[in-house]
Amino acid sequence: MRLDKFLREQNLGTRSQLKKDIQAGLVSVNGITALSPQQQIAEETDQVSYKGQLCVYEKYIYYLLHKPAGVVSAVRDAHDKTVMDLLGDVRKNDLFPVGRLDKDTEGLLLITNDGKLSHELLSPTKHVEKEYECCLADVFDERQKVLLEQGVDIGDKKPTAPAHVRRLTERKIALTITEGRFHQVKRMLHAVGNEVTYLKRIRMGPLILDETLPRGSWRRLTKEEVECLQYDRSSHL
Ligand code: URA
Repeated sequence: MRLDKFLREQNLGTRSQLKKDIQAGLVSVNGITALSPQQQIAEETDQVSYKGQLCVYEKYIYYLLHKPAGVVSAVRDAHDKTVMDLLGDVRKNDLFPVGRLDKDTEGLLLITNDGKLSHELLSPTKHVEKEYECCLADVFDERQKVLLEQGVDIGDKKPTAPAHVRRLTERKIALTITEGRFHQVKRMLHAVGNEVTYLKRIRMGPLILDETLPRGSWRRLTKEEVECLQYDRSSHL
């Protein structure tokens, strides 16, 4: 990898600033001052220092995005803006969103290059909980709650697994499901005679949407959040 790209991916500054810093002798590779931004480095083994501080290469990257409506959950798309476009100029060439939210759905989306974690969060056999806040067209009643909690026929081979419902207001619920079928939440509400007018994912396994994160923005997962996902991965996610 090019040295300036490596430094850029550590979020140490803009590419042009970092180029200047390299040319000014502020970067060393294995103890030798590097003067060319194009210098190739072995990112996993070379010791790169920037302004005297060792830069530790991170193999796995985890971003928590507050997805807004209007962007698609894909790495690239011929017509629409994607969730990857929202990340801006950071390391993302090997990253991908973990699962899909519909174009009009908002909320928590994990973006990573950790394929094993992604698989475990999405695998139907792992029953990872996904919690959605749902605004509804009609008043939500007890009959609808009972049906969702039993599992409903949404036209697939099997009915959905039992869901958990928390009533928030007359027309708003938090619904927790453990599967990830196509348009699942909207189809479940439709099947019980209601309609989703707004949908937002607020939790995936132990990971909670950070409400201080404005729509369309993102942050790195904290060390604690990563550890929590990794711990849960080996136990009960
Ligand atoms: N269920 C839906 O219907 N849409 C989503 O985006 C996610 C879950």
